[in-house]
Amino acid sequence: MKLRLKIFIKIFMTPKVDQEKCLGCGTCVAICAEVFRMNANGKAEVIEGDHSALEAQINQAKDACPVGAITLE
Ligand code: F3S
Repeated sequence: MKLRLKIFIKIFMTPKVDQEKCLGCGTCVAICAEVFRMNANGKAEVIEGDHSALEAQINQAKDACPVGAITLE
């Protein structure tokens, strides 16, 4: 008898904002203010915390960024 094991591992990727690329348009904040905020330099930054429940919104913000400043690491 063959034993088949299927293991599903889901790894949540942490969002990062490239401060050099960010234009400060605020699109990511408009899409997901629970994760992104504007800093004193007028650029977006990631709010500290566990955002694993907001993966869909994070991906939406990443895809909407006009300069590709949001990455998942
Ligand atoms: Fe900056 Fe892109 Fe957000 S330009 S403000 S990281 S949508």
